[in-house]
This record gives sequence, C-alpha cells and structure tokens, in this order.
Amino acid sequence: MKVVVLTGAGISAESGLATFRDADGLWQGHHVNDVATPEAFRRDPEVVHKFYDDRRRELRTVKPNAAHIALARLEQLLGDGLLVVTQNVDDLHERAGSSRVVHMHGELLSALCDSCQGRFAWDDDLGDAPTCPACGNDTLRPDVVWFGEMPYALDLIERALSEADLFVAIGTSGAVYPAAGFVRMAALAGAKTLELNLDPSETTYLFDDARQGPAGKLVPAWVADVQGTLR
Ligand code: OAD
Repeated sequence: MKVVVLTGAGISAESGLATFRDADGLWQGHHVNDVATPEAFRRDPEVVHKFYDDRRRELRTVKPNAAHIALARLEQLLGDGLLVVTQNVDDLHERAGSSRVVHMHGELLSALCDSCQGRFAWDDDLGDAPTCPACGNDTLRPDVVWFGEMPYALDLIERALSEADLFVAIGTSGAVYPAAGFVRMAALAGAKTLELNLDPSETTYLFDDARQGPAGKLVPAWVADVQGTLR
C-alpha cells in the first residue's frame, strides 16, 4: 500500500505550537505578511530574524505528540510505502521517529544563504549575522519558504501523489496552495482520500471521507485501523 500523508500546523497544535489561522490571521501576534514574505525580510530583516529565532528557540520547549508518534509507527508498518509531506517547519515528525519526511515549506533548523544558495543544518540564532559556512558572507536567512516563493520538492511530491493508493491530510486548513491542491491530484490519479482535522477545512468537500477531532486522538485511531487491515 502506498500512502501519502500531508500534515499542517494542526498536527503540532497539541504539542503547544500555534497554528496560523486559528487566531484571526495572527501568528504569534504578527501578520503573516510582516514575517513570511521576501519583501518583509528586505524591509525589516531584524524583525523577521527575531521572529524565526524565537520560533527556533521555542522548538526546544516542545515535544512530539501522539499524532506524530502514530505516524512514525505507520512508517514502521509501511516502510517506503509511506511518505509524509509536511507544511510545518518544526522537527516534531523527525523527533517522533519518522524518517521519510519532506518539508515542502522548509525548516527552522536549517539556514539558507542568499549569496551562494547553500543550505545548512542550523540550530542557533540568525539575527546576529553569522557567516555562511560555504561562502563566508553574512547573508544567511531562515530556510523557510515565504509567500511568493517556490515550495521544495514538488516533483517528488507530485510523483508520490500520482502513485498513491491513499492520501491523508492532517491538521491543515486547505487555504494555501499548492498543498491545498494535493487532494485533487491524488484523487485524479485514483487514490482514496481522507481528511483528519479539528474542524471542516476549506477543502473537506473534496475528500472521500473526513473525520473531525484533535489529531492526537484521530491519528492514532486511524493508524490502528490501517494496522488492522494489514494483518
Ligand atoms: P492553518 O493554521 O492554516 O490550519 C491549521 C488547521 O489545523 C486548521 O484547519 C485547524 O482547524 C486545524 N487544527 C487545529 N488544532 C488541531 C488539532 N489539535 N488537531 C487537528 N487539527 C487541528 O495551518 P496550515 O494549513 O498548516 O505556509 O497552513 C498552511 C501554510 O500556511 C503554512 O505552512 C504556512 C502558512 O502560511 C508558509 O509559511 C509558506
């Protein structure tokens, strides 16, 4: 069985990380346009760096929850039949034990050099202008895909969607493309589709099946169902 799971901010909510759209469009007190666009970074790099430096530090205070752990268990069951595509920039899937994870919107624990385009594992602040390990310039930025930029690994994701038997979206509002379009792509290629989300999303109507509730409950229950069908 080939399964593609798409995760969004809702899967990390029970770990204590804020989602994007649950607080009137404010994310930790900021409008997304003030911290998540290349224009914002050009206009005020200090504010943007501080925002992501704070988010990176916050990662040290949170842990994977039952939903992340259940997806890691699913990888043990399905091996390379499972691909987790996440819109999240946290590392909670990896810390739960998942290894087949694609971060389509980048990662907090990575830095991108605006001069040489190198990408580097990074767990320190970027606001104090550290130099790039490859080219030596002080042009490192968060390795996070901002609005107007191209998400990572779309070729690989589209290939996986075209081969999937099942597509499952977890904790995502269906408001941001291209991720919000994956359900259509998977369905067109013949996959069954399932949504697991706290509330109905903007794209619930596109799924074959939708279950509402907290990811920490729904995901372990769904993984147990899958395990049952494999016996
Ligand atoms: P959103 O904040 O848009 O949506 C989070 C979804 O999770 C909502 O539909 C909530 O109902 C749901 N939710 C909240 N708590 C939940 C829980 N405990 N269990 C299950 N579901 C829960 O986040 P995303 O859809 O991930 O992009 O946002 C997509 C992209 O928009 C982000 O990756 C980011 C943002 O702007 C970039 O930064 C490029």
